[in-house]
Amino acid sequence: MIKAVRGTRDLLPPDTALWNFVEAAARDVFRAYNFQEIRTPILEDLSLFQRSVGEETDIVSKEMFAWEDRGRAASEKGQMLALRPENTAGVVRAYIEHKLWERPGVQKLYYIGPQFRRERPQKGRYRQFYQIGAEAIGPPAAGSESPARDAEILEMLATLLDRLGIRDWTLELNSVGCPNDRPRYFEALRAAINPVVAQMCADCQRRAVTNPLRMFDCKVPEDQPIVSKLPRISDYLDEACREHFAEVQRILTALEVPFTINDRLVRGLDYYQRTAFEFTHGALGAQNAILGGGRYDGLSETLGGPRAPGIGFAIGEDRLVLALPGSAEALAHKPDAYIAPLGAGMNREAAKLARELRKHDLVIEMGDESFRLKKSFDTADKLGAHYVIIVGENEVASGNFALKQLGGEQQTVPRSELASRIQSHK
Ligand code: HAM
Repeated sequence: MIKAVRGTRDLLPPDTALWNFVEAAARDVFRAYNFQEIRTPILEDLSLFQRSVGEETDIVSKEMFAWEDRGRAASEKGQMLALRPENTAGVVRAYIEHKLWERPGVQKLYYIGPQFRRERPQKGRYRQFYQIGAEAIGPPAAGSESPARDAEILEMLATLLDRLGIRDWTLELNSVGCPNDRPRYFEALRAAINPVVAQMCADCQRRAVTNPLRMFDCKVPEDQPIVSKLPRISDYLDEACREHFAEVQRILTALEVPFTINDRLVRGLDYYQRTAFEFTHGALGAQNAILGGGRYDGLSETLGGPRAPGIGFAIGEDRLVLALPGSAEALAHKPDAYIAPLGAGMNREAAKLARELRKHDLVIEMGDESFRLKKSFDTADKLGAHYVIIVGENEVASGNFALKQLGGEQQTVPRSELASRIQSHK
């Protein structure tokens, strides 16, 4: 038997109702904050992620699904392709490719779609997973750098989680500074690491040279006592970064959005500057980060574009669905009515009636003229239909139909009143 590939899964009804509920709520909230949808390809040039997410990150160095495409001629080298592990890089590529800075204001873009990382699968962690994300990016003159944008995004996320009935969340906030702070901070980090680096894992020994910030991603238990004592970026922020971060916090406080400062939060992607954040959720166990994001003020330039500060986030939809209070059963729809055609030639009549009723926004399911009445009733019952409508020769001729409420009474209803009678139960 061929099964779904490790780390991927089928989303089946009724669970898909939860996914649709979440996506509809997200689209509604994004609309209120004037975000519009962008759809970028799942397939991108590998170098896009090497240059943005960063070659030293776990995502790019260990978890990419990437391969060399066939060249046009046999002798020609093919392009290196990758399944996207995240969507920020694709959005910024599209921003540059389509010169979106020529459009007015800050570009506020959202996306919903699959991402791919070759991680070790476990609850809440998959190799194909889904993100609902948004990015606000634009020229500095449009206000893209303002701490007001950071606060707006964070408040929007709090609103979305509240709207979904998710209560038990914590917003962890940090500032990871900017290129101006990094040389002094890296100097301090290296000074702290040098005496102990030889005792650390091979990855950390390499990171100490290439990108010391990535040592915070280390998961080797023996290294943790060292990592936990490393200097914190918060002590090395320059005046502008410090003030930016303070203003984000002031606005959030004014909006009554609760947050905690976590100065160990550095995020696993290289493009971040200044504000970085994660929302965690109590019920999720080890994979408790329900979403993550931050500012990436230098990313556009890294990818060859103009200066375009930006901030965004991505929600792990798989995890968000796990944190929902409601059940899929309650959200999934059931037929309002089940049409039971009775006898030869009645499929045709049932189809005509179904067509009429569906125009009234009713959910209609149909049996088959070969079914005995009992089979139709049993099926309707199993499907959770509210009514059964019997369609036989007499009903069609008289224009009066037997409308039977399952577990309730039967009435005779003229064809023209069927829809309104069914609707009245809703
Ligand atoms: P990220 O922290 O790598 O950030 O991913 C965001 C969220 O995606 C995580 O908090 C988690 O909920 C979910 N996620 C990540 N990996 C998996 C997985 N293997 N299985 C299930 N869920 C997962 C980003 O991707 C950035 N692009 C966010 C961003 C947007 N920053 C700025 N703009």
